[in-house]
Amino acid sequence: MPQNSSQHLGRNVVVIGTQWGDEGKGKVVDWLTDHAQAVVRFQGGHNAGHTLMIGGKKTILRLIPSGIMHPKVICYIGNGVVLSPEALFKEIAELESAGLNVSSRLRISEAATLILPYHVAIDHAREKKKGDAKIGTTGRGIGPAYEDKVARRALRVQDLFYPEQFAAKLRENLEYHNFVLKNYYQAPELDFANTLAEAMSYAERIKAMVTDVSSALYAAEQAGQNLLFEGAQGTLLDIDHGTYPYVTSSNCVAGNAAAGSGVGPASLHYILGITKAYCTRVGAGPFPSELYDHENPAKQDPIGIRLADIGKEFGSVTGRPRRTGWLDAAALKRSIQINGLTGLCITKLDVLDGLETIRLCVGYRLDGKTLDVLPRGAESVARCEPIYEDFPGWKGSTYGIRDWNKLPIEAQHYLRRVENFCGKPIAMVSTGPDRDETILLQHPFE
Ligand code: GDP
Ligand code: IMO
Ligand code: MG
Repeated sequence: MPQNSSQHLGRNVVVIGTQWGDEGKGKVVDWLTDHAQAVVRFQGGHNAGHTLMIGGKKTILRLIPSGIMHPKVICYIGNGVVLSPEALFKEIAELESAGLNVSSRLRISEAATLILPYHVAIDHAREKKKGDAKIGTTGRGIGPAYEDKVARRALRVQDLFYPEQFAAKLRENLEYHNFVLKNYYQAPELDFANTLAEAMSYAERIKAMVTDVSSALYAAEQAGQNLLFEGAQGTLLDIDHGTYPYVTSSNCVAGNAAAGSGVGPASLHYILGITKAYCTRVGAGPFPSELYDHENPAKQDPIGIRLADIGKEFGSVTGRPRRTGWLDAAALKRSIQINGLTGLCITKLDVLDGLETIRLCVGYRLDGKTLDVLPRGAESVARCEPIYEDFPGWKGSTYGIRDWNKLPIEAQHYLRRVENFCGKPIAMVSTGPDRDETILLQHPFE
């Protein structure tokens, strides 16, 4: 191998959400994919809902990477993902019936953890028992599947290929989970034979897609290809760094792109943080700059309602109305630290069109102190009182603008202040849901 072979290596970009998810990651991953040969999911599961809008046609992806719309691109599901075979084949069938060739371009890690029906049952039973204190999960079995992984009892994709051992492990798992379902949650138990038969019915089809993902990514890198890593959820939902316990059960931060797919951290060259021009949250948990929550009579600010309306803020997975609020730059500062962000992509700027005044949260008062970065954990965050800077809004529409200089001067000022407060450059601005409604300032792949 020539000594200078490293200069032929490609460039790899990680896309992550810097808020509570739904920042527009899917749109941006799709847009960036024209510079990549492979797109990789590394955490989460079908709790994600990533929306792509291409020439007015909408596609929502849950488990399959958002690069799938590009015909020659290979899509990988890494070891860090929790994979429901049922959800996977449902999604493949939907995409294939729309004319896409998915199976031939999808590669799945043998080390990915399986989500099986008892995980879903536990997720539901637990939320029900918690009542008002519930997390507001997506009910997809995500948390219980990650718990099994960490408890070292999970069934993984590769177990499907050893039917006898699979059956033995499943029996043990079900014995344990059925005990909890029946005695602790007073919920129905799951039948062993049915669960086994259903899981095994997917085995051959999954086998055709299984690959040693780390070896494949290593080879792709050596061949000079560009890789794109697609985060799900968002930094403030990260199991360690988010508003715990109101979080998801995986690490959503950029560093997990390495562990969750089996590449080294030095392979992550550019970390792009997707940031909505305001904030949303779906599910429970503290939200300092919150204006609107359809379930909370104390949070009914008309501007929050307007953001929800114009931004069409309904969950793409569960259809639940999202809570809305002002952009929280102090929370963004936390995301910048823990992701090592290279640049920002601000999305949904157009949703702020026509507002008289736009507020930006730049810190909090907490227990007599002033903070300029979001603290960790739900208790502290819940006690944060936001400190705002106010900016004049703009008249007219930014919808679909593709050139920075065409943005109203007030919008430019607002964005420059975000950049300046956070100390990171804005690389892209999204002004509409469609692939092409994008302003490029600095291409992450160049
Ligand atoms: P993700 O989970 O981060 O991929 O985001 P979602 O797809 O759940 O939610 C983002 C929503 O905003 C989707 O409905 C997108 O089509 C839409 N969207 C993305 N970017 C823009 C934008 O710049 N402007 C507007 N108006 N909508 C956008
Ligand atoms: P994308 O990738 C927004 C939220 C749920 C709940 C919490 C835990 O589309 O941005 P879980 O089912 O993961 O155990 O739920 O996390 N949540 C999301 N919120 N976007 C997502 O994904 C989410 N995935 C999970 O609403 O509050
Ligand atoms: Mg989403």
